[in-house]
Amino acid sequence: MFSFLLFFGLFAFTQQFSNQEATVTGNILCKNQPIRENTTVTIWDDDFIGDDELNSTMTDNNGFFYLYGQEFVYFSFQPFISLRHGCGPVSLCQCGKRCEYETRIWIPSTAPGETHHMGKIRLDRLPAVNATVITTASCLA
Ligand SMILES: *[C@@H]1O[C@H](CO)[C@@H](O)[C@H](O)[C@H]1NC(C)=O
Ligand SMILES: *[C@@H]1O[C@H](CO)[C@@H](O)[C@H](O)[C@H]1NC(C)=O
Ligand SMILES: *[C@@H]1O[C@H](CO)[C@@H](O)[C@H](O)[C@H]1NC(C)=O
Repeated sequence: MFSFLLFFGLFAFTQQFSNQEATVTGNILCKNQPIRENTTVTIWDDDFIGDDELNSTMTDNNGFFYLYGQEFVYFSFQPFISLRHGCGPVSLCQCGKRCEYETRIWIPSTAPGETHHMGKIRLDRLPAVNATVITTASCLA
């Protein structure tokens, strides 16, 4: 118990809880067409103990979304957005059937009142994996 308190005491010494937020907008397209209306876009904090879901919204009929998420964090704040879609890349679909894809895109945190504009997010042109993008596929039965 003592070492537990000491451990967190030391952390408290060097780090503080702080309120962090991210406001983000974008326009999600697949092959130059807006993604399906009412696709859910979720904002998360990438946390090593388990990701925290912060908020979600739906795309409009032109593929636009606006999301705001905030969290009182002790460790770092590493927000990302995620969505499920059918736009591939089909090379990830290894089951010989149709797949559903989940894309995660890491975004910067923003100061209060600021918005990160992602512009056009062309799902068919995203890398499957890079430092800020990960797409995974799951087989549709
Ligand atoms: C999207 O959601 C709105 C509001 O709930 C609804 O009126 C509309 O029919 C939905 N569109 C589709 C394509 O499901
Ligand atoms: C979710 O987003 C809406 C719209 O921006 C905002 O009003 C609401 O406070 C957000 N919820 C949380 C838990 O941040
Ligand atoms: C990852 O891909 C996205 C979308 O193409 C791009 O905006 C971003 O700069 C890339 N990141 C790195 C670290 O290459």
